[in-house]
Amino acid sequence: MTAKPRLVISTGAGISAESGIRTFRDADGLWEEYPVMDVASADGFARNPALVHRFYNERRRALADVRPNRAHEILHELERDFDVYVITQNVDDLHERAGSTKVLHLHGELLKVRALDDENLTWAVGTDTETTPETRIDGHRVRPHIVFFQEAVPMFEPATQLAAEADIFVIIGTSLVVYPAAALLHYVRRGVPVYYIDPNPGEVPDGVTVIRKKATEGMAELAEILRHKYL
Ligand code: APR
Repeated sequence: MTAKPRLVISTGAGISAESGIRTFRDADGLWEEYPVMDVASADGFARNPALVHRFYNERRRALADVRPNRAHEILHELERDFDVYVITQNVDDLHERAGSTKVLHLHGELLKVRALDDENLTWAVGTDTETTPETRIDGHRVRPHIVFFQEAVPMFEPATQLAAEADIFVIIGTSLVVYPAAALLHYVRRGVPVYYIDPNPGEVPDGVTVIRKKATEGMAELAEILRHKYL
């Protein structure tokens, strides 16, 4: 039994767009409505923690009304023929709900909160969980388990390891403007095929195969390519 090819997939907000979750930088994106430095930065959290708690309560609550789309499902189905690792910038749980078994969240998760005084102490919460700056769990004040701008991205190191071990690397639905996530592409070994699915793709180096389509269509097309070319 030969080992399955290692398929590493880096996803951004675009893969959840067809599930009804807003992206950040599209015309109707979240950052058109909310000042990102007020609701998603370390300075903003220090300045007005109640506003930040409310912002993430709202985004967590919205998860109750959405479900994975065909692109999430295809990533799960590819686990039959490939050793699939998903590295996501998204904080929703749609990859997990679609059945993906190996998901690495670079920017945190809406369905977790963590102790203010211990970043390794986290608790799973439901979509109906609302936190405030006064909320305590086991005596600890808590915050959203989200990586804010101006904060370190502790999961980036393990993500670079996955990119470096990929036999095939796929990018779906990210504008590639936020670092270090956007740099993952540069950890892929020379000669490893890279595909990028996005209807309005960001800048990528030569040699990347761009599929200028939405995630559901592009992922269906790519699944065919992968099965014919690499199995
Ligand atoms: N299918 C695929 N891609 C899509 C779709 C779709 N249906 N709709 C939009 N896109 C693409 C856009 O063309 C864009 O390239 O998804 C990308 C969304 O880009 P952003 O809104 O910048 O989202 P993302 O790249 O995930 O943002 C990165 O920025 O604000 C921070 O922490 C936040 O994780 C987020 C990070």
